[in-house]
Amino acid sequence: MCGIVGYVGFRSVSELLLEGLHRLEYRGYDSAGIAVMADDGIVLRKRAGRVGELAALLDEQPVRGSIGIGHTRWATHGETTDENSHPHIGGNGEVAIVHNGVIENYISLRNQLQEMGYVFQSQTDTEVVAHLIAHHLSEQQKLNCDEPCMRTCLRAINLSLDQLKGTFGLCVLFRDCPETVIAARAGSPLVIGIGKDEYFLASDASPLIGYTKEVVYLADNEVVVLQPSGIQITHRTSGSVRPSIQTLDQVSSDIDLGDYPHYMLKEIFEQPQTVENALRGRLNEEEGTAVIGGLNLTPQQLRKVDRIVLTACGTSWHAALVGEYLLEEFARIPTEVEYASELRYRNPPMTEGTLVFSITQSGETADTLAAMRECKRKGHPTLSICNVVGSTIARESDGGIFLHAGPEIGVASTKAFTSQVTVLTLLALYLGRMRHLSYPAGKRIISQLRDMPAKIEEALQCHDRVKEVANKYADFDNFLYLGRLCNFPVALEGALKLKEISYIHAEGYPAAEMKHGPIALVDEQTPSVFVVPRSGIQPKVMSNMEEVKARKGPVIAIACQGDNAVAEIADDVIYVPDIEEYLQPLVCAIPLQLLSYHIALLRGCNVDRPRNLAKSVTVE
Ligand code: G6P
Repeated sequence: MCGIVGYVGFRSVSELLLEGLHRLEYRGYDSAGIAVMADDGIVLRKRAGRVGELAALLDEQPVRGSIGIGHTRWATHGETTDENSHPHIGGNGEVAIVHNGVIENYISLRNQLQEMGYVFQSQTDTEVVAHLIAHHLSEQQKLNCDEPCMRTCLRAINLSLDQLKGTFGLCVLFRDCPETVIAARAGSPLVIGIGKDEYFLASDASPLIGYTKEVVYLADNEVVVLQPSGIQITHRTSGSVRPSIQTLDQVSSDIDLGDYPHYMLKEIFEQPQTVENALRGRLNEEEGTAVIGGLNLTPQQLRKVDRIVLTACGTSWHAALVGEYLLEEFARIPTEVEYASELRYRNPPMTEGTLVFSITQSGETADTLAAMRECKRKGHPTLSICNVVGSTIARESDGGIFLHAGPEIGVASTKAFTSQVTVLTLLALYLGRMRHLSYPAGKRIISQLRDMPAKIEEALQCHDRVKEVANKYADFDNFLYLGRLCNFPVALEGALKLKEISYIHAEGYPAAEMKHGPIALVDEQTPSVFVVPRSGIQPKVMSNMEEVKARKGPVIAIACQGDNAVAEIADDVIYVPDIEEYLQPLVCAIPLQLLSYHIALLRGCNVDRPRNLAKSVTVE
């Protein structure tokens, strides 16, 4: 949510920042802008709209320099106008600032600054920080006129940060200290890239790929001064910090589109590989269990777990619902799934043996992080199931399991969902084998998991059929998605995908619950998508399909290969491979992802950059 880039060094900074903003655009795309240290002071270029608009502006009005900062915005305070775009200028051009996060006390600070004579150009909370820093800077310059400019700037930043309430990652450029960029973090991620005589800064590592492999993740309450000659990190209370340099293992091809028209389609088709990555090295054939190394809990401690809480947002929350089903089925451990945004403010009773898992693709979702911290504060072991190595949640959790799915760039999550479900299946198998699950049952699950990449490959063969179905239904404005047991979360996820990228109203429901309300919506204009693979519950779901048909509702069914009985009821069937019930979410999700993709395309929507959404929601 909002992307930040910064650079100090020798390269032409406009192009570099622009490329970085393109790579960060998934975090927000309401507006984009850069501030460059030019010969005659700080020069701004910013514009409402996508990064492409900024690129056009820079073509018309290029700006030269080798030090600068940039921003792509997901609006929180103030509409998406040129004025509200970042960077914001403080004072009379003494500082320029980009910011990710929310300043909660911005109104009172703005009133104070206005009384002092500062004039505001925007409605943003960020401009308050810009003027506040400018104010402290001018005070400090008067008091300490002989000290190096960098020291004065750093003091001005720290004094300003002391006054801020809320979350932020911010990055500041100073007119009077032209070799310097200062950045600070309290809640919103920042990563520093280390080069030779050059340093990079970004909200996540994607802008650094191809430039450096050495990175330092800034921790909360740390402030970094970047100059071409070096970096200096200080913690706001405990002083100087020795940077812990980590190696980035991503390569440029991970973030290239290749031959695909959209990231979403690329990521859908990556799923055989990403599920394989999630399984790699984690299947212990001999003992009929999973190998899960990173939980940092002994088998004895895990044996004592009597309750599991899975907390997450969005698509990750749907994966958690599948996880609940699997953990209770295989390990018989009572499991609850909590929206992180609710859990952070609730006070549910939790036993001593409760294990908390945060499930998150990005590892940066503000609510998930806050829920995790709250559980940690209460003394529970907090683990994560996360994709982004080096993310805040991955670093702050006591242990966890990585997805290894590679960067997910499409705003609508696809491959992260199937990887999360795969990892949750492994976790359920692992905990199950410590309890009631027998060796033969474990062996059977392992052999079925081993087949999953091939089964997903097979499921992807429905692509052409999905296009036909999409063509037929793209003009409908309301959809129901229905499924049962572990396919109920798949129905929720299918509805979410359609809402997110095609702006069609869609509701996911457990199929049997339909009778208690949603059936009132059924008519010729409201298609119902039934997730109805072969299973013990299938006959019941087929009765629900009949009920919809009886009310003239069009029925689209996701069913197993060769299931003629479903075909007799449904108007349109999309087939997936016939697999064990508990693994069905992994194949049934695929046609629903593709269906939403094609309907969105047919309706002329931007599938990778849907309106109002951001990939990584780092504000509350
Ligand atoms: C946003 C994204 C969703 C994602 C959710 C949780 O809403 O648009 O695709 O599922 O955040 O993100 P996380 O990174 O925590 O899984």
